[in-house]
Amino acid sequence: MSVVAMIGAQWGDEGKGKIADVLSREAAAMARFNGGNNAGHTVVVGETKIVLRLVPVGILRPDVRCYVGRGCVVNPAYLLEELGRLRDLDVSADNLTVDWHCHLILPYHIELDKAGDETLGRWRLGTTGRGIGPCYADKASRLGLRLADLFDEKRLTERLGALADRHAPTLKALGVDVDEKEVMAGLKEAAPKLERYAGDVAAAMREEVAGGEKVLLEGAHGLLLDLNYGTYPFVTSSTVHAGGAAAGLGLPCGFVDRILGVVKAYQTRVGEGPFPTELEDEPGERLRQHGNEYGSTTGRPRRCGWLDLVLLKYSVEVAGVDLIALNKLDVLDGVEPVKVCVAYELDGERLERAPAPFDYLEKVKPVYEELPGWPDGASGATSYGALPAAAKGYVDFIEDFVGAEVALVSTGPSREEGFMRREIFP
Ligand code: IMP
Repeated sequence: MSVVAMIGAQWGDEGKGKIADVLSREAAAMARFNGGNNAGHTVVVGETKIVLRLVPVGILRPDVRCYVGRGCVVNPAYLLEELGRLRDLDVSADNLTVDWHCHLILPYHIELDKAGDETLGRWRLGTTGRGIGPCYADKASRLGLRLADLFDEKRLTERLGALADRHAPTLKALGVDVDEKEVMAGLKEAAPKLERYAGDVAAAMREEVAGGEKVLLEGAHGLLLDLNYGTYPFVTSSTVHAGGAAAGLGLPCGFVDRILGVVKAYQTRVGEGPFPTELEDEPGERLRQHGNEYGSTTGRPRRCGWLDLVLLKYSVEVAGVDLIALNKLDVLDGVEPVKVCVAYELDGERLERAPAPFDYLEKVKPVYEELPGWPDGASGATSYGALPAAAKGYVDFIEDFVGAEVALVSTGPSREEGFMRREIFP
């Protein structure tokens, strides 16, 4: 048994696509357990950049079995679009199974998400507009439709009717119209195209682990966006925590051997919410340009800042991160000095740990430690030894501070740029 759960340890966009792609070389199976097409896992193969939002990154390797667990929400039209894009790249999705129980994102959810967020004023989240929150809300209200419902017309008609009726007054108040007949027609068209992918992912996952295969559980977003442990209310609506990997896939908890936290060498956030180390002017813009920090799902410019080690330590402790994959170290090439946040100040007091509740993050002032930069560049380094001394110092500083080993370092966007310092799969 060799199961690794990979999660983002910041506010998402840590570069999990690249890490998942590197690990897919070894994995026999890969599975998404949370979120939907609000995620965007980017892989660069040669000159081609591929963004996968729902299907696990392992689909790019023909021998990797891929699963989407019932912790995920699925927009049927979007899934077909993603499968179509894969087909255009000559990638077969024959190895893909999507759990019967995945809840469906419907046009109602998308409209409620977009129009609803706009009504929140100062509490607006800046969601991805993909209908994620309303879909999970309907799931929790026992109102949602699941993938399996697509294949039973009577059930589909009844359940869609109930959902449409429930949302009609809110949609009317928001001034939005969703045509139930059109929605039904879209679902009926999608059903036969999706039926071959629908299956019992929980049973398949148990077989995978019983067979002793290497399995990578591909988390989406980042712990600080977790519904329970993130910067609520500025979070997504799924469980990002590694505990969600077991629940979202139907794996008994004890089967997860190792938790890999993916960390970007600096901090970014897209959407609203507190961000103590945010850099607003030239230094922030420099990170945005050098790191190409624009949302892979919405194209929005990401907010950028110095690495917040206080929050990273929180993520490592809360999610039980054993190993770290450090991404985009090369983006800091030429920055002098490099700052990291090692504590906060709140009302004249020094805080060594993230404040509880997190709402105080809006008021804290970061306390920085300045580390020497590396003008000679970490870009493209393929071994720890090839890193400039100061870049090694940066890696070591992170490890010591958060108490987790940096097992993998990425020094550029392509598959070849970076190195592994120890095995990730046990
Ligand atoms: P939602 O997930 O679309 O509901 O958006 C809720 C919040 O999470 C917004 O601030 C989004 O920008 C943020 N968010 C959701 N998914 C991601 C992600 O994969 N990367 C970064 N931010 C995300």
